[in-house]
Amino acid sequence: MSKHKTQDILYSQPLEAITDFVFDESVVHVFRDMIGRSVPGYSTLLSMIPVLARHYVKNNSRCYDLGCSLGASTLAMRHGIDAQDTEIISVDNSPAMIEQCQRYIANDKAVVPVKLVCADIRDISVICASMVVMNFTLQFIERNDRSKLLDSIYQGLNTDGVLLLSEKIHFSDEVEQEWMTDLHHEFKKANGYSELEISQKRSALENVLVPETIEKHKQRLTKAGFRKVIVWFQCFNFVSLLAIK
Ligand SMILES: C[S@@+](CC[C@H](N)C(=O)[O-])C[C@H]1O[C@@H](n2cnc3c(N)ncnc32)[C@H](O)[C@@H]1O
Repeated sequence: MSKHKTQDILYSQPLEAITDFVFDESVVHVFRDMIGRSVPGYSTLLSMIPVLARHYVKNNSRCYDLGCSLGASTLAMRHGIDAQDTEIISVDNSPAMIEQCQRYIANDKAVVPVKLVCADIRDISVICASMVVMNFTLQFIERNDRSKLLDSIYQGLNTDGVLLLSEKIHFSDEVEQEWMTDLHHEFKKANGYSELEISQKRSALENVLVPETIEKHKQRLTKAGFRKVIVWFQCFNFVSLLAIK
């Protein structure tokens, strides 16, 4: 890992053809830098996960991190859990992500066991869970599959268990959509991305990251059975919802 550059310059030079974004090895090397400079509020959001884990994770239950990437949310949960006899199951379908995540988990000294699984999150069963985190991952799942996935998470949660769902969102109000998109781009520029990088990355994500409105998310979660859905964090066009069973 150390021989690779960790600054995200993947889209800094003009590309002849812009292909769909994938979480491959080249992204893994720069992912921490990329997500921190691209997602407004990411570090604040992460810093609250231990607080939420301490509150919601119960004895003899499981926690899940779906779309765990390099394990940032896994580690945040792991450091907040106060309950006994718990384990965290962290899932990602990118082998390169899981491989690097394994190293970060091994270097972390917290005691809660973490099981890493390289799989599609649509193929795993959530069982006996008190907390499920899905940070900026549902947006990469085909829209037709989203309800089924959330239904199965709901089924696998214990009563009073929570799903923490963070997503980039779209606004139904055109002006709001435009202003929030502009502010997001300002945020990226303030973090050193050029206009070229912003526009090439946007094209690469166009077909793979499909945002929805907060209303759509709330409606789907309520339909799945969650008794309460709360927006607990928002920064421009990025939100985090807490859905309680
Ligand atoms: C934006 S990243 C998630 C960031 C991470 N949760 C965090 O808090 O740092 C999205 C991740 O979801 C993974 N992913 C996308 N689709 C997936 C699927 N169908 N099954 C499993 N993982 C998936 C990608 O490989 C990627 O690592």
